[in-house]
Amino acid sequence: MTEKDSITLPWTVTSHSMDETRYIAASLTQLVLPGAVVLLRGEMGSGKTTLIQAMAESLDCPVKVKSPTFDLVHIYDCGAVRIYHVDLYRVQNADELSILDLPYADEGGSLVLAEWGDLLAPFYPEHFHLTCESLGPQCRRFRLDALGKAYQRRWKNWVRTQMTKKGTEA
Ligand SMILES: Nc1ncnc2c1ncn2[C@@H]1O[C@H](COP(=O)(O)OP(=O)(O)OP(=O)(O)O)[C@@H](O)[C@H]1O
Ligand SMILES: [Mg+2]
Repeated sequence: MTEKDSITLPWTVTSHSMDETRYIAASLTQLVLPGAVVLLRGEMGSGKTTLIQAMAESLDCPVKVKSPTFDLVHIYDCGAVRIYHVDLYRVQNADELSILDLPYADEGGSLVLAEWGDLLAPFYPEHFHLTCESLGPQCRRFRLDALGKAYQRRWKNWVRTQMTKKGTEA
């Protein structure tokens, strides 16, 4: 992570290694909980699945998260959190989404993490957007934005907590 990483929305953070990605994923998980919808964008290989795997690991997911490209959605129960890992790469239009048994927007405890998830935006007016970008073999940039007042408030609260933590550590 570098000094160029932003502390305002959209929040941009750069990872230079898998360890850094794991650290970022754990922070992101704390930011988006309890229960949230995160729509992930980014080219193939930009790190969407890897980031979700690390987010699940940070919640002590009992099994290794695998890409749901063929099944469209995998569900993992990690303690009090139910992760819906969605991959809509193969889905062309919104009609095909009716077969997915996804939670309602305000269903507490459910964390929807959707790769190629833009088609879900109309169903979840409030959500986080996470854009992944490859900057080199070991380097990935992640950019988070919050859509909707409640999600922006969640972001602000998280920043406040981070600032307080830093103040306590100093
Ligand atoms: N710093 C890093 N953070 C995350 N992934 C990294 C990093 N450095 C290298 N990688 C590699 O980048 C690849 C990312 O692949 P991944 O499957 O997560 O991409 P994806 O965005 O889900 O692609 P797709 O759209 O095909 O599903 C992995 O092979 C991972 O090991
Ligand atoms: Mg993927």
